[in-house]
Amino acid sequence: MGFYKDLADSVVIQNKGKKKVLIDHKDTLTLIGVGRSAFVFKIKNTNKVIKVFFPTHRHFAYEEAMVYQVVQNIDYFPTIYEFGWNYIVINYIEGYTLFDCLTRGIQVSAKEIKEVESAILVAQSLGLNPSDIHLRNIIITTEGKIKMIDVARFRQAKLCPQWEDLRTAFYRFYTKPLFPKRLPSFLLNTIAFLYKRCFY
Ligand SMILES: Nc1ncnc2c1ncn2[C@@H]1O[C@H](COP(=O)(O)OP(=O)(O)OP(=O)(O)O)[C@@H](O)[C@H]1O
Ligand SMILES: [Mg+2]
Repeated sequence: MGFYKDLADSVVIQNKGKKKVLIDHKDTLTLIGVGRSAFVFKIKNTNKVIKVFFPTHRHFAYEEAMVYQVVQNIDYFPTIYEFGWNYIVINYIEGYTLFDCLTRGIQVSAKEIKEVESAILVAQSLGLNPSDIHLRNIIITTEGKIKMIDVARFRQAKLCPQWEDLRTAFYRFYTKPLFPKRLPSFLLNTIAFLYKRCFY
C-alpha cells in the first residue's frame, strides 16, 4: 500500500495560470501521458502505470477506481491494482492511441471500431454510461486488441455524444479511399478544441 502512495506523494504539480506544470517525481517514474486531469507515469521495472490526478481533479481518482472495479472482468479494460485519494494504479498498455494512429498514419480498421462498440455495450450492460470516449482514450495494443482507458466519467448521468460523432466521422470520411490516413496533430487538436467549444 505504502509503495504506491509514496510514488504518488513524490509527484509535485504546480499551477501556472491554467496550465499544470510537473515540478518533481521519483526517478522510478517515467512520464508517459498527460490529459486534462492527470499525469500518467510508467513505474520502472513493472508493467504498471500510476495516474496522479491534478490537485483540482483529485475526486476523479475514486470515481475512476469505482468504474474500473465494475469492469474488472472485461478484457477491453485495464486491470486496477490500487487507488488512493489522488491516484490509481492500472496495468501499462503497450500500443498506440487512436490519436497516435491518425498522426502516425497507422491504419485503423472497421474491426477496431466495432470492438470499441462492443466495449461500450458491455459497459452499458453493467449499468454504466460510457462517456468522454475520444481518440486519446482508446488504445490499439501491440496484439491488435482494443483497450479503453480513462473511464472516470462512465458514471455521469449526462449523455455524451463524442463516440457517436467519432464513429460517424470514421465511416463518412476516414474509410473513403481519398481521405488522408495521416493527419497533423495540430489539425486533430484544433478539431477537438472546436468540437468541445461548440458542443459542451
Ligand atoms: N494504462 C495506460 N497504458 C499506457 N498509456 C496510458 C495508460 N493510461 C494513460 N495512458 C496515456 O496517458 C494519456 C493520459 O491519460 P488519461 O486519458 O487517463 O488522462 P486524463 O487526464 O484523464 O485524460 P482526459 O484529457 O481524456 O480527461 C492517455 O491518452 C495515454 O496516452
Ligand atoms: Mg484521457
